[in-house]
Amino acid sequence: MTDCPGTDCAQAHSDRAALSDDGIRLLVDRFYAKVRRDEELGPIFARAIADEDWPAHLSTMRDFWSSIMLTSGRYHGNPVAAHRRVEGLTPALFERWLTLFAETCAELFDQTTVAAFMDKAKRIAASLQLALFYRPEQDRPRAAP
Ligand code: HEM
Repeated sequence: MTDCPGTDCAQAHSDRAALSDDGIRLLVDRFYAKVRRDEELGPIFARAIADEDWPAHLSTMRDFWSSIMLTSGRYHGNPVAAHRRVEGLTPALFERWLTLFAETCAELFDQTTVAAFMDKAKRIAASLQLALFYRPEQDRPRAAP
């Protein structure tokens, strides 16, 4: 880290979580705890996931991030199909999701790891939104008469 050299700095950052399955567990648990309390996202998740199904969802999300960040190959699912089932999704909610995800990453990891998570999260959010909201027949410019 360029702006805080020296041993004090190393000490100050030694409580940062490692990019590991343990770090991912902390991130997933903390992120979805925030999401469930959030005014905008909370009701969407509450409609889609019953209380008793949360442990399974958190486990899927740990496998997902482990596959993405640690190439563990543990996630085998179809995020587009899963999100098509979610009622009330909007592009603005994706912005909120990314804000809370960035906030949670910053609470746990060093800047390089935060940047790596956010790079992946933004790309996946963009591709999910293309799959969910892009309507070529409406968005294509009209042909000249
Ligand atoms: C507005 C933003 C979002 C909302 C409201 C949302 C909501 C949900 C909900 C309710 C589920 C459970 C669906 C089900 O089991 O039927 C789900 C699953 C999932 N979400 Fe999201 N999501 C959002 C954005 C994202 C983003 C940006 C990512 C990735 C970076 C992501 C990754 C996943 C994955 C991997 C699953 C599991 C899919 C499976 O069952 O295999 N979500 N999401």
